[in-house]
Amino acid sequence: MRIGIAGVGGRMGRLLIQVVAAREDAALAGGTVRPGGRVGADLGMLAGIGERGITATDQPAAMFQAAEVVIDFTNPAALATHLDLAARHGTALVIGTSGLSLEQERAIAETARTVPIVYAANFSSGVALLLALVRRAAETLGPEYDIEIVEMHHRQKIDAPSGTAIAMGRAAAAGRGITLEDHMESGRHGHTGKRRDGAIGFAALRGGQVVGEHTAIFAAATEHLTIGHRSFDRRVYAEGAVRAALWLKGKPPGLYGMEDVLGLR
Ligand SMILES: NC(=O)c1ccc[n+]([C@@H]2O[C@H](COP(=O)([O-])OP(=O)(O)OC[C@H]3O[C@@H](n4cnc5c(N)ncnc54)[C@H](OP(=O)(O)O)[C@@H]3O)[C@@H](O)[C@H]2O)c1
Repeated sequence: MRIGIAGVGGRMGRLLIQVVAAREDAALAGGTVRPGGRVGADLGMLAGIGERGITATDQPAAMFQAAEVVIDFTNPAALATHLDLAARHGTALVIGTSGLSLEQERAIAETARTVPIVYAANFSSGVALLLALVRRAAETLGPEYDIEIVEMHHRQKIDAPSGTAIAMGRAAAAGRGITLEDHMESGRHGHTGKRRDGAIGFAALRGGQVVGEHTAIFAAATEHLTIGHRSFDRRVYAEGAVRAALWLKGKPPGLYGMEDVLGLR
């Protein structure tokens, strides 16, 4: 499978190069950097695995043409171009970029009518299972259980709550048969008044180099259920994204998630 990687200068981009290069069933088809970025840098050298003879470009069109699938862990601002190129060249996409707006998520769904796309807030297998468990718990436990979602990430993270926390909120909302948008209570501060009935609350902690910690709390007067997950190494996301890319081979157009890749639905 020929895999292109957008954002090869980034932390995820460099890990993705390592994971793809280590596999026999995958080959690097190219890599991009932001316009004016480290154009011409060898992808292997960027990833610390020695020269591979493929250099970074700021012209994504060539990479989309050469690749069967492109993995995108970059920046929300790059999404529109990547969707456009995927549709134009019939290239499958794996999208890991977080902090996308609802409108951007709709654009992904629209493009997925013509090419297969895996979009996930979190590419770890453990988190895919966590989402299924949160949904099940919300389905099983009644509205007397208040749902709170707590996440902690490294100090460099620029969006909050994390994409995974929002995905957990959506899973809980789906389990309750409600929408997250109508029930989200995030960023409490000052005189907030009492907790809204049926709210799904969020708290985001930032500090140090935490790769990712997520906990869903179902709190009733007589008991609490907590379901949590910790990532110790960002490599778990790169491995999951490459697994998703390989899974896409031969798939019809459509919008898929990690639960599809793992056969959880
Ligand atoms: N879904 C998941 O499982 C998961 C896991 C980890 C991270 N993420 C998300 O993935 C994204 C990247 O994370 P990261 O930690 O790797 O961030 P990062 O280290 O900042 O890397 C992002 C890279 O993308 C580059 N970039 C920006 N615009 C670009 C463009 N138009 N074309 C090509 N490259 C472009 C940036 O270049 P400059 O430095 O020049 O701006 C940077 O090198 C974030 O949204 C993060 O939240 C998702």
